Amino acid sequence: MITLALSKGRIFEETLPLLAAAGIQVLEDPEKSRKLILPTNRDDVRVVLVRATDVPTYVQHGGADIGVAGKDVLIEHTGSQEGSDGLYQPLDLNIAKCRMSVAVRADFDYAAAVKQGSRIRVATKYTAIAREHFANKGVHVDLIKLYGSMELAPLTGLADAIVDLVSTGNTLKANKLVEVEEIMQISSRLVVNQASLKLKREAIRAVIQAFESAIPQ
Ligand code: ATP
Ligand code: PRP
Repeated sequence: MITLALSKGRIFEETLPLLAAAGIQVLEDPEKSRKLILPTNRDDVRVVLVRATDVPTYVQHGGADIGVAGKDVLIEHTGSQEGSDGLYQPLDLNIAKCRMSVAVRADFDYAAAVKQGSRIRVATKYTAIAREHFANKGVHVDLIKLYGSMELAPLTGLADAIVDLVSTGNTLKANKLVEVEEIMQISSRLVVNQASLKLKREAIRAVIQAFESAIPQ
């Protein structure tokens, strides 16, 4: 049996065409079902639904053999861009594409604050990425950990800036924030448990190859 960990929403939706290329169809709609283990058309493949941030944990510790996770989630999980023990990342799937950026209120002069060497209060869910980014720039920051709705932090005076994901820019615009720095491009990767790769080599290799053939350009 191969267990594939996915999160509901965009990762699930954007992984479906890759699964189809591997001859795998998920038999239930996660938006309609309350089940957390979904059967597929193949007796030897099942999908488990977990929070996006939990995918690397499931795969690293063998709760799933393979999974799909954003680069943001993977860096935060490992605490760096180095990778982590037992978690193999063979493919960039080029799905769930966005960027990690710094954003501020339109009336906050970010360039001046950086130039003056002021301490900047930064609210984010992505503390590892933010810490590394500002350390590399030599900017002193006080990081404020949030779990969502980062856009609210500069509007309420909780922070001067946020580090968050941006795609269309609509969320920033709706909250009168402006993007002042792009930190990195983000997409989702296939992650594989290293022990599973040895024990279930043939089956997992076949999935990796099928996914590779169907990566969107
Ligand atoms: P959790 O449920 O653990 O809080 P989440 O709400 O961030 O996670 P999703 O919104 O489903 O989960 O995002 C999953 C992944 O999709 C993110 O890790 C990121 O890589 C990518 N992503 C997030 N927002 C966007 C976006 N607006 N456009 C494209 N990709 C995105
Ligand atoms: C993500 C991210 C931003 C938004 C950016 O949120 O946290 O708020 O997308 O996308 P945009 O630039 O196209 O507006 P998401 O839609 O995933 O909501 P969630 O984090 O609450 O799940």
